[in-house]
Amino acid sequence: MDENDKAIETEFANTSVSADAQGWRTIREVYKVPAKAKQAQVELRLRWAPTGKVEWRDAQVTAAEAPAARKVKVASINHRPRGNKTAMENLEQFASFVDGAGKNKADIQLFCTNLLNEGYYNHLSLIKAIGVKDMGRNIGFRFTMKFVKEKKEIEVPEGSNLRTEALKAGIHTNQGFVNGIGRWANSSFANCHGLGLCGTCRVLVTKGMENTNAMGMIENFRFHNPLPDPFPSLSFIGNEDTMRLSCKVQVLGDMEVETAPTMDLFGENFFS
Ligand code: FES
Repeated sequence: MDENDKAIETEFANTSVSADAQGWRTIREVYKVPAKAKQAQVELRLRWAPTGKVEWRDAQVTAAEAPAARKVKVASINHRPRGNKTAMENLEQFASFVDGAGKNKADIQLFCTNLLNEGYYNHLSLIKAIGVKDMGRNIGFRFTMKFVKEKKEIEVPEGSNLRTEALKAGIHTNQGFVNGIGRWANSSFANCHGLGLCGTCRVLVTKGMENTNAMGMIENFRFHNPLPDPFPSLSFIGNEDTMRLSCKVQVLGDMEVETAPTMDLFGENFFS
């Protein structure tokens, strides 16, 4: 993080080390401190294990010697499959390039992020198929979020929260109670700060709804319960396929977002 608490670089630890007899894994890594860094933020997350459970212990950051320099061979793959009929063919074609890099003894392979958009099943099956064991470290997926009204495009890490990332980019998704009414108060303090209760951070995901997490109980309740504030549920009518509470959306792929969707107060949506 820099002096303004802005994240300037993200590193991912190798979490695939073997466990000891008690089931603990010791994860120890040496990272180069970016020039403008003023502090480090350590986050421990458990992913892709909906019913999983994990215990963290003794996380700490200490100064370390820089590792000795060494020469590495880097392979870069940026391939767009064309003309194949199935995702499996795409995958096989891609795998042949990975094999080629392996035969040439590449130490590191770089994959272009466009491979996520090219129909290789989904990225998890691709990773499995090409034998990447350590996902967090080898492939830190980043996706593009486009804010249509603000004409702004940002890149965010996989699994990040839509409202939080928008805020970091200076975009308030809490834009008033309805049609911008109370915008200043709502974006400053009169909102539930991401608890999914006020319903004022609603947005339309105009592209990439399939790249979001499923709607949970709290979000569902907010959109289907007209009390105490009826506007979230009234706005939801007719927008069921695109409307979400930005504070409850996880970014799992590219998406396009419209903030502050307006509502026709005197049209067919209202009290119909
Ligand atoms: S911030 Fe209140 S519902 Fe999202």
